Amino acid sequence: MKINENFLKIQNNYLFSDIAKKVKAYQTENPDADIIRLGIGDVTRPLPEAVISAMKKAVEEMAHEDTFRGYPPEWGYDFLKSAINKNDFLARGVKLQDDEIFVSDGAKSDCGNIGDIFGVDNIVAVCDPLYPVYIDTNVMAGRSGELLANGQWSNFYYMPCTKETNFLPALPEKKVDIIYLCFPNNPTGMTITKDELKKWVDYANENGSVILYDAAYEAFITEENVPHSIFEIEGAKTCAIEFRSFSKTAGFTGTRCAYTVIPHELKVNGVELNALWARRQATKFNGVSYITQRGAEAIYTEEGKKQVRETIGYYQKNAKVIYSGLKDMGYEVFGAVNSPYIWLKTPDNMKSWEFFDMLLHKVQVVGTPGSGFGPSGEGYFRLTAFGSADRTKEAVERIKSL
Ligand code: MLT
Repeated sequence: MKINENFLKIQNNYLFSDIAKKVKAYQTENPDADIIRLGIGDVTRPLPEAVISAMKKAVEEMAHEDTFRGYPPEWGYDFLKSAINKNDFLARGVKLQDDEIFVSDGAKSDCGNIGDIFGVDNIVAVCDPLYPVYIDTNVMAGRSGELLANGQWSNFYYMPCTKETNFLPALPEKKVDIIYLCFPNNPTGMTITKDELKKWVDYANENGSVILYDAAYEAFITEENVPHSIFEIEGAKTCAIEFRSFSKTAGFTGTRCAYTVIPHELKVNGVELNALWARRQATKFNGVSYITQRGAEAIYTEEGKKQVRETIGYYQKNAKVIYSGLKDMGYEVFGAVNSPYIWLKTPDNMKSWEFFDMLLHKVQVVGTPGSGFGPSGEGYFRLTAFGSADRTKEAVERIKSL
């Protein structure tokens, strides 16, 4: 009997579990401490009313024999796929077929599971810092090599994204196979223009690479020349897979619904990746509940759209409060404009975890240490705009008092 020894290579727990553990220990020692949590990017606003009433209606349908539903289709109900297609793509001039859209329970699971359809010997390129799922899942799958003293894995290709690079990765100097890109970026909150993204699409098409494009924070884009989907870029259909999520858009972190787009034109050695993913999902996944998919569909109604815009606007205000508050205090601050994340340089060259401890212990504010997102995140720190307006303002005041 053998285990998958790749798991033993991962020394730390999942980043957000580690943080939760530290905060819990502090709370146990200081039961009266009033902690403000701006660490994990979890939403706090309730689901839009349009979603709630669609879900209630769907629950009622499940109560009657003639409208009851059993297993959902593994790739999503047609009603949701066609609403996604029409509103998220066609409305932006992108033509997709409904069967290029796969509804799932989360962008996190899809970003991790997608590795199933790729060979283990592919070279994986990642931005640094990055959403830890991209690295951890590839380590588990056996693509990483060994962990080096500098915090990098030997077989991955790292693309530093720091203030020196304006938080954009440089095109790889060698051939890489799988490229993870996330824009608007988690954790830096920075994003990419259409022209810059075109360079990546061209690189991928020239080198036969596949871009795994995580657009989970698309709803926060405010600037004109920032792409909402990689498929707005010419040539992307032959080199990209896109992950989208209702979590941050419409408050579905606890409800779970997302989707992944794999165009039929995307082929590796003549094999359609769409067909492989369809096969993978049909085998390992039983679909998202009818109730949840009806809720997701309601986001695309007129009132749903309006309510989603209000919620996003609420978080965007928080982002501004944190961004300007910190800037006024003299911090170097990034992100926030097209993102719910604020990325700051720690003062006096403090290490990210040192800054985390200081905020927790001195002012009871929780954020996320930049180094948890990769070696190039050292000396940075992330705050999220997903808290309540009052608590967000208070967190800024508390940081000011330091
Ligand atoms: C984060 O805080 O980076 C996010 O919550 C991660 C996620 O969406 O899984």
